[in-house]
Amino acid sequence: MAVPHLIRRGVSGGSPLHPLRGLLFASQEFGRRSLSSETGDAAAQLKGAREEVKQLLKATSCHPILVRLGWHDSGTYDKNITEWPKCGGANGSLRFEIELKHGANAGGPKIPMKLIQPIKDKYSGVTYADLFQLSSATAIEEAGGPKIPMVYGRVDVAAPEQCPPEGRLPAAGPPSPAEHLREVFYRMGLNDKEIVALSGAHTLGRARPERSGWGKPETKYTKNGPGAPGGQSWTSQWLKFDNSYFKDVKERRDEDLLVLPTDAVLFEDSSFKFYAEKYAVDQDAFFSDYAEAHAKLSNLGAKFDPPKGFSLN
Ligand code: HEM
Repeated sequence: MAVPHLIRRGVSGGSPLHPLRGLLFASQEFGRRSLSSETGDAAAQLKGAREEVKQLLKATSCHPILVRLGWHDSGTYDKNITEWPKCGGANGSLRFEIELKHGANAGGPKIPMKLIQPIKDKYSGVTYADLFQLSSATAIEEAGGPKIPMVYGRVDVAAPEQCPPEGRLPAAGPPSPAEHLREVFYRMGLNDKEIVALSGAHTLGRARPERSGWGKPETKYTKNGPGAPGGQSWTSQWLKFDNSYFKDVKERRDEDLLVLPTDAVLFEDSSFKFYAEKYAVDQDAFFSDYAEAHAKLSNLGAKFDPPKGFSLN
């Protein structure tokens, strides 16, 4: 007999409580559910989780770290590897300690992981891979960004041995930033337009010297929080998703705002510059390209169950 989808979803997490709850839930359903009602259950769970993510965002202003959580799970994808999960990507592998210890994750995803674990425990039918991407897309939307055409049903990897190798995410200060960005993002199957649009996610959040080595310890925009005070943001209103990142990186007038070498190059490389200039003057164009690129990023390397995934309204 085929194993119901909810069982496969339910047993893949890392929480000690979660597998039992997933099995209990699934065993009640076993044998009497059709594929469409299973998808309906999964959609209902995801919607419940989405409401709780919204509450969490309201209570803690954790939008930036949730966006980065989704990106760091999916951004390990390598399009040249056909085998799942060896290809990396949006498969929930970031929950394992071995991947959290990768240099690019220093001081990063552990904090949002802790914040969303109670949501995972409550909605055990939702995979980590889906919850990471749901949290990120919801954070963008709640910060005033575009609606992202998301698809759900991602399957989780089961064990730390299935984590991608270290070094697949981009570095902020490589010797040749444009070459480096292309090497990393082309490996994911993304193009110049998508590199520039996705970089616009830095309209949210801050860098902290004690985490990544980048940014100032504090600025006039970060010294009072919200959230843990400190760090250096790319924009003055770093909890609002808009096109100010492109304006600020272009102008570079404020020493309190951050410009990484990989941000600066968006206005130096002629192909990147075409899009960066456009987004600096046309927020609608940025929102439309961002939404499309974000959805694509969220699907990289994902195995869906059902195979084409499903959307929430
Ligand atoms: C283009 C290559 C990229 C590089 C080199 C890069 C690098 C960095 C660095 C160094 C930080 C600071 C981390 C810290 O100190 O805590 C950061 C933060 C952040 N990144 Fe990126 N990033 C890139 C692309 C992206 C993409 C594609 C997204 C999302 C779609 C993203 C979303 C974020 C967010 C939201 C933060 C703020 C996190 C916080 O406030 O704690 N980044 N990034």
